[in-house]
Amino acid sequence: MEDKDIGAASVDGVISSLGNAKISVMDRGFLYGDSIYEVIRTFDGTPLFFDEHWNRFKNSAKLVNLKLSFSKQELLVEIRKIFDEVKLPKGIDFYIRYIVTRGQGPIDLFPHSNLNQSLIVIVKKMRSWEEVFYRRGIKLAVPQIKRNSINTLDPNIKGGNYLNNILGLMSSRELGADDCLMLNEGGHITESSSSNIFFVIKNNLVTPSKSSGNLNGLTKCAVQEICKNKGIENSEIYIDLNMIDQANECFITSSTRGIMPVASIILSNGKVIKFPDGGGKYTRKLISYYEDYLNNYVASNKDFLLYKKL
Ligand SMILES: Cc1ncc(COP(=O)(O)O)c(C=O)c1O
Repeated sequence: MEDKDIGAASVDGVISSLGNAKISVMDRGFLYGDSIYEVIRTFDGTPLFFDEHWNRFKNSAKLVNLKLSFSKQELLVEIRKIFDEVKLPKGIDFYIRYIVTRGQGPIDLFPHSNLNQSLIVIVKKMRSWEEVFYRRGIKLAVPQIKRNSINTLDPNIKGGNYLNNILGLMSSRELGADDCLMLNEGGHITESSSSNIFFVIKNNLVTPSKSSGNLNGLTKCAVQEICKNKGIENSEIYIDLNMIDQANECFITSSTRGIMPVASIILSNGKVIKFPDGGGKYTRKLISYYEDYLNNYVASNKDFLLYKKL
């Protein structure tokens, strides 16, 4: 079986293979991106930060005026059902994406009050990122397109419309990079297409302030908690491109990537800023602390265990 086929999905409780899972063309998630979601990874059979993802999911629901029809516990039961019913290899880590769409309805932008929301859960083998992204680092570029502002489509809505990020990612690939570093309309750095970003500038660890417009990433929060526990000073500030001229380290964070060093950033004027291969002192230390943090999380969150990793 190929890696891409390892997995299963549940659509409103009906479990099938990834290829056979279907939703209606009249679903508002499909028609309008009228949906919200979360992505969790498992680590040794435990879904990481289950509570934190649920809280962020509830916040997305609030931001799009959606009243969730199920509880956190019911979601956990739904996810477990997939692992119980489908024979999935137990020696690997999984990617779990849960999505709620506002449901099926007439083709009409206005969501009618009688819609029934759909819950879709996708479980698949965790993708492994290119080895060079960790050994050397990922290359970023600053695209022309700006990140949605908080007042247009709040980046804290983790919703089913990622066109803003997709366009940023596509143009950064055209510029010869692997991913993008998006600015807001005011020229402040926000985040990458699906990760938060940190810099070390003059020995200060910094990440863009929430009001720059970025998703409040759970890996970012974990890094901040580690820093607090280890006494590493860090702050959220407005960061513009002039400031990163003086940065000597940079890394991105996300649930599926963990902490990934940034090798270089191609600026809008073509200038390239380079960072140490494999990350500098702060980055390497945080990567190692994050590993311990995950091991501790797994050891103290056995209640969430989905399957025993062999
Ligand atoms: C736009 C965006 N920013 C940041 C992140 C990182 O968030 P997390 O660390 O919770 O995965 C993601 C993850 O999906 C994202 O889509």
